[in-house]
Amino acid sequence: MCGIFGCILKNGNAAPVIHAALKRLEYRGYDSVGEATISNGKLFIKKDQGKIDDVHKARNLDDLPGSIGIGHTRWATHGAPLEINAHPHVDCHGQIAVIHNGIIENYADLKQELENRGHVFKSKTDTEVIAHLIERALEAFPPPSLADAVLETVKKLDGSYSIAVISTKEPDKIICARHESPLVIGVNENAIYFASDIPAFLPLTNKAVIVDDGEIVTLSLKGFEIRKIADSSMVSREPKLIDWAPEMAVKQGYPYFMLKEIHEQPACLRNTLRLQEHYLDLMATFLDRAREVYLVACGTSYHACLASSYMFSKLAFLATYPVIASEFVEQHGKSVNIDSTILAVSQSGETADTLASVNVARQRAATVLGLTNTIGSTLTRVSRVYIGQQSGPEIGVAATKTFTSQLSVMSQLALRLAKKRGKVSQDEMDYLAEKLNKLPETVETILRTQEEKAKQIAKKYKDAKVFFFLGRGISTATAYEGRLKLMEIAYVPAIAFPAGESKHGPISLVEPGFPVVFICPKDDTHKTLIGNIMEMKARGASIIAVVEEGDEEIKNLAEDFFEVPKGVPEVLSPVPFITPLQLLAYYMAIEKGFNPDTPRNLAKSVTVK
Ligand code: AGP
Repeated sequence: MCGIFGCILKNGNAAPVIHAALKRLEYRGYDSVGEATISNGKLFIKKDQGKIDDVHKARNLDDLPGSIGIGHTRWATHGAPLEINAHPHVDCHGQIAVIHNGIIENYADLKQELENRGHVFKSKTDTEVIAHLIERALEAFPPPSLADAVLETVKKLDGSYSIAVISTKEPDKIICARHESPLVIGVNENAIYFASDIPAFLPLTNKAVIVDDGEIVTLSLKGFEIRKIADSSMVSREPKLIDWAPEMAVKQGYPYFMLKEIHEQPACLRNTLRLQEHYLDLMATFLDRAREVYLVACGTSYHACLASSYMFSKLAFLATYPVIASEFVEQHGKSVNIDSTILAVSQSGETADTLASVNVARQRAATVLGLTNTIGSTLTRVSRVYIGQQSGPEIGVAATKTFTSQLSVMSQLALRLAKKRGKVSQDEMDYLAEKLNKLPETVETILRTQEEKAKQIAKKYKDAKVFFFLGRGISTATAYEGRLKLMEIAYVPAIAFPAGESKHGPISLVEPGFPVVFICPKDDTHKTLIGNIMEMKARGASIIAVVEEGDEEIKNLAEDFFEVPKGVPEVLSPVPFITPLQLLAYYMAIEKGFNPDTPRNLAKSVTVK
């Protein structure tokens, strides 16, 4: 997820306006920043790696001439956060500048084709291909307009994008286009703006025009013209008045980043389905060759590892050992060896406990693989191969969208491994891949239908002194994660363990009215789980069940329940089943008057051991 912004002013320089707007978009990405303006027929660019304030101090982002310009604040997905990979990117002649938010899935093929035609690339990004494609389109005779060249270009792109293009050939226009990644226009009597999000221009105007998927826009001081990319038909759309306070606007209208990020999960899951095949296959190869595989992480990332161990076992018949990073050295420091593979999972890529485990593993010649949300983080530098999960910055301290993205990536790895090992038929592969592709839609349904229920249940149990979270099989991981969410942001003591363990001790805690959350997918554990529910009910517990829609048997046993769409395969079930529990934890925190974004005693990235 990155932030894009640009403007055309009637008077004055665009650069300072762009710089200020990028600051308001910083929560969308902050590992590098850049601006491009046009003045007297020439293109001027300043860009570098680093946070906006640091780059501004070093380069003075305001010192660019011209009243038209574009700017970008980056969250790296392709190419490390280096100056050369910062946006804007240009064509061979330095006349066209492009900024982009999204993921171009077919960039490698497009880049190869362009290189074969003599185009010289400078960066490792997917975005740069767009500048060279526009350059090629403009070489036609007679040359098309900039808008038509961009139109021709975006039709070749697979993936998600919101892009903006300026060119010295038409120095009074900005061409934007969008597919999936957000794009809005701001208008007032002295200027016209575009941005990824409304907050970027809200202090300048509250008149906004939302650009829809599959639309291309030409901006000039005469106004804006929207066309459909598919057939170039004109679209007329009036500006809307935005009544958000700037503070709300940064969260796109959500009261807290955590709720915004819970709702971003469908988009993030779609992004995880756009990973570069090459890296998934390479990582699957390393896992396939390993004598033993440890999945090492902390907190929510550990719960993703725990769930993944069921995926690798059930799909690929690969035994993997999920280990809490702070215990790895004590538990395995002496036994890990050259035949060991460590897959470290860390959304920040900076967690000290995880990195300490990785360092010991490397010292003992083990192979280190990484899964992270932060390109350029330490974990990416110490891993032999890493995958960027492409969730965009997660501002809320509680991990939500990064958790479900990790599960999606790990299930894709398990599937590839299963195929490589011949453990699943092509039909099973196709079935699971189809279900994986439907996960974003499934989560959208849950967010639409279960949020009210989460508010009600949070209100009902806001004074409960302790919660149990129970599951069987892969749902044990979901139970652990649901418990962590409730503890860390609503400060409610909660206990989670495999449902089969209750009778070995914890059930002694249960008293009448004691809330017990059961995770109940209709998988092989369903029948036994009913027995565990009956055990709890017999002792007066209040059952809160997360069930597949239509599971009347468990709904009749529960005081309260969440329903998730049916038909999600067991190995993918933590994604839908955790979503209502994320909402429950969030609304419990709100009920109790806490700020879910900044829970006490916690940091977003725990860089101390
Ligand atoms: C999760 O909600 C917590 N904020 C915390 O447990 C977190 O998952 C843990 O610190 C690991 O962080 P990482 O994924 O960045 O390594």
